[in-house]
Amino acid sequence: MCGIIAYNGQDDAVPYLLEGIRNLEYRGYDSFGCALDSKVGIIIKKDIGKVDDVINKYKVQNLSSNKAIFHTRWATHGGVKTENAHPMIDCTHRIAVAHNGIIENWAELKESLGGHKFISDTDTEVLSHLIEEKLNKGADIQTAVKDTFKQIKGSSSFIVLDKQSEDLVAVKKGSPLVLGIAKNGNFLSSDVPSFVRHTNKVVYLSDGDMVVLGKKSYSITNLINKDVKHEVSTVNFSAKHAEKGDYEHFMIKEIMEQLGLMKNLESTDFKDVIQAAALVKNAKLVYLIGAGTSYHAAMLGAKALRENGINAVAVQGQDLITYRKVISADDVFIIISQSGETADIINVLPLMSKNKKIGIINSDGSTLAKEVDVFIPIGAGPEKAVASTKSFTLSGVYSTLIAMFAAGRNEDAIHDLKLMNMNMYNLLVPSVLSAIDKAAEKIKGLENVFFLGRDSDYIMALEGALKLKEVSYIHAEAIDAATFKHGPLALISDKVYAVAIVSESNRNDTLYNLQEVKARGGNIIGISDKNENVFDMFIRTQEGGSFGFVMQSIILQLLAYKTSILKGINPDRPKNLAKSVTVK
Ligand code: G6P
Repeated sequence: MCGIIAYNGQDDAVPYLLEGIRNLEYRGYDSFGCALDSKVGIIIKKDIGKVDDVINKYKVQNLSSNKAIFHTRWATHGGVKTENAHPMIDCTHRIAVAHNGIIENWAELKESLGGHKFISDTDTEVLSHLIEEKLNKGADIQTAVKDTFKQIKGSSSFIVLDKQSEDLVAVKKGSPLVLGIAKNGNFLSSDVPSFVRHTNKVVYLSDGDMVVLGKKSYSITNLINKDVKHEVSTVNFSAKHAEKGDYEHFMIKEIMEQLGLMKNLESTDFKDVIQAAALVKNAKLVYLIGAGTSYHAAMLGAKALRENGINAVAVQGQDLITYRKVISADDVFIIISQSGETADIINVLPLMSKNKKIGIINSDGSTLAKEVDVFIPIGAGPEKAVASTKSFTLSGVYSTLIAMFAAGRNEDAIHDLKLMNMNMYNLLVPSVLSAIDKAAEKIKGLENVFFLGRDSDYIMALEGALKLKEVSYIHAEAIDAATFKHGPLALISDKVYAVAIVSESNRNDTLYNLQEVKARGGNIIGISDKNENVFDMFIRTQEGGSFGFVMQSIILQLLAYKTSILKGINPDRPKNLAKSVTVK
């Protein structure tokens, strides 16, 4: 979704913001634009296309300013065209506004702005004219922004550059916005990694916060709840964590990081997991809520809870509405989200207002992280590739740990973590890597691939299929191997390939189902810790006890990554997808 970064300070903003906006590209976008304060007025450059292409076309790198806003737009309201790129200006060219979010009542607001000249089809443009309207009536910029914020409905974070003011003024609601406090100036941005090379001191803003960002100072007031505290936090990752290093893509870097991240878990005290376990133990029902890949982590957690004797169900964020009549105060929610900003979940928070909430979330200070009673940081560090990898496996591990701790199986959990880490050393050996390469070589030319598995292997099939779709654009469908006979078997021929995930716990049953595929000419790529006759190709995974899914997952991620590379696709930025989906 849209990315915004702004700087106001004593240094030249342009190099900071060029670097920052490139770091925000992972969010997904179709246009780039910037507004720079200058002696001759506000300079606006914007166009559709890749950030670097627009920058080079308009020679943005040759401009300079101490106060500027850069923006990447993900079209929601109004098509992909230059006029719809942000920032938006008012009729007098006094202000420029960059926005992330949706203004739900834009139509009626636009209606009230008769006489103003609109140049775009966006909802955002009502902001610049509403602010202008108030400035024309004599309001100062802060009052104009504050009063405008009160008029708009929906989730909207925006930054305003006023050529008559030393300050930038911003408000946050729904969409992410963080403040970075650097030596010679201050940043506002959609995320921390975009400016972390220049400061690790941040304020995670809350909904309703209005920030007046001066060159040397800043002030924050909350327009909804004046008791909100604005502590300065120190982030514990460096710019290095948010860079590719020697890897060709973020996706492969993030896949490989899992080995170290899983090992680190062995020296964790799990205080927050213990707190969460105490909550779920007494729950009538535990709902695990997630979207996309995080929903698959929720499925892993729900299954682990049920297997440990605790009633649990995984629900996709938007679907919670169908449970509204049955949610009771004794139910507990576990929210799983990498970004902590997914609209499908934020929108259903009111349904959980009376319940205890646990968050397994990667982004400290995010909207969802602020809403939960027990916050379990995923601790994956910045995840920049659109397709989630390390956040998924860690979320699956944390939700499984909650289940095992709740059942008093702490020792089993620690044992299984160690087993997984020990066997992880044998996972990515040359024979396995070359088997993945061969499978990717086969898959790259296909139009359809099935992913099959039973029980938790079915969850991995869902995740493996999603990864492949996301980064290789191949249609991939996950089917519970047990249900293949209820219809999909009709599709099998010798042209069909299925990736089968087979664990010890369901080996015989799954193999029986795979024989049915094989008997009809289907080809099977098996992912298992043992080779089987039914497999045409074999990728060996390792035993990992309760956490065997981590190893299966790493193989499925590599399979998707390699296929993407063979097809010449950039796996970090698949077309049409965004990392953080802040719209309905
Ligand atoms: C988007 C991303 C997915 C992600 C999903 C949920 O669709 O492309 O990779 O799994 O959102 O995001 P969250 O941040 O809530 O985990």
